[in-house]
Amino acid sequence: MRKLFTHIAAIHGIENNPQPMLKGEEMAHVNSLKNAWLLIEDGKFAGWGTMDLDPLPTADDSVSLTGLEILPGLVDSHTHCIFAEPRSAEWEMRLKGATYEEIAAAGGGILNSAAKLRSMDEEWLYEQSLWRVQRMIEHGSTTIEIKSGYGLRTESELKMLRIARRIGQNVNATIKTTFLGAHAVPPEFKGRQDDYVEHILNEMLPAVCGEGLADHMDVFCDRGFFTAEQTLRLLEAAAKLGLPAKIHANELGITGGVQVAASAGAWSADHLEHIGDEEIECLRNSEVMPVGLPGTSYFLDIPYTPAREIIGAGLPFALASDFNPGSSPVCSLQMVWSLGCSRMKMLPAEAFNAISLNAARSLRLENTTGSIAVGKQADFWTTETRNALQSVPYFFGVNHAKDVYLKGTKN
Ligand code: NIG
Ligand code: FE
Repeated sequence: MRKLFTHIAAIHGIENNPQPMLKGEEMAHVNSLKNAWLLIEDGKFAGWGTMDLDPLPTADDSVSLTGLEILPGLVDSHTHCIFAEPRSAEWEMRLKGATYEEIAAAGGGILNSAAKLRSMDEEWLYEQSLWRVQRMIEHGSTTIEIKSGYGLRTESELKMLRIARRIGQNVNATIKTTFLGAHAVPPEFKGRQDDYVEHILNEMLPAVCGEGLADHMDVFCDRGFFTAEQTLRLLEAAAKLGLPAKIHANELGITGGVQVAASAGAWSADHLEHIGDEEIECLRNSEVMPVGLPGTSYFLDIPYTPAREIIGAGLPFALASDFNPGSSPVCSLQMVWSLGCSRMKMLPAEAFNAISLNAARSLRLENTTGSIAVGKQADFWTTETRNALQSVPYFFGVNHAKDVYLKGTKN
């Protein structure tokens, strides 16, 4: 089946020579084509050209997209979108001066979300979570990673991951799952953090892998959560069971998470609000994708990940939403794109590459999505917004996506 889109005002994010990722100065460049046609064959990009220069290819179906621009599907590589409800009361506590860490230390935060999720009916949790995923897709996200981590006991972690898999079977977007049992220490292990780590190693991780429910393993390695030593043990055990590592690191302090990510060969190290020269040097000697989560910095009023220093060091850099009920209740990567520019001083093109190709790379999906390249999944979205590469992050707070196509099919 060959489908042809004609009279497209502009196509952005084209790769003639596909790269696995963009680093340093390369991130400021995006390939665009004006007054174009785009050919999709069997759900994959098959070619493109200029309306008045290149002859139109034959197709089974042809659609005119006059006045619309096209961007590749966005990749949200870090979400916690399966949750029971927002933590509005904690938000009000923070508005009055309490900090995220104080609330967590008093048994709120992630533990509050876990208590709610454990008692929530699986069907209702599925419906709510699916609804959120559909909103993410409507905003142009065509690949979404979903973490567990609000169960914190075997049956509830499995419940979350089964729901994530079920969502993956019921939407056309690409869904990847991550086991985050080491997100916080649950009340039944209070004061016995090492015992909880053993419990994850001996019971939870084998159960998750036994059912094939996770594509990656993640640990919240930070002040007040899991130590670098505990994290490394967990990630090494996961690797033996075939799960690559992703990691929450350096959100609250410098606690060795970046170094652990490098030793464990993690695919990404996410957050990095607190990093220094040592961490940047460590990233330079690794294959770890640094990932910034500006929605968290905005909502918690904490420092932003130093994107300019990371990119200035010649590194690649990705951005994700961290969509969750406590620290980053944002589902739109368009908003993340805007925050990346306004708050982290990334150029619109850099932040765009950070939520498309580099984000795909952080999930090792750069060969199938993240840009418009021959043979990649035809994941893309259309917009009526002219000059989309600048105007989408500029006019923040509205959804610029008109139609979203997942593997060549309109959502
Ligand atoms: O990435 N930092 C750890 N985990 C989430 C927060 C989850 C929550 O507060 O519910 C994050 O910010
Ligand atoms: Fe997170």
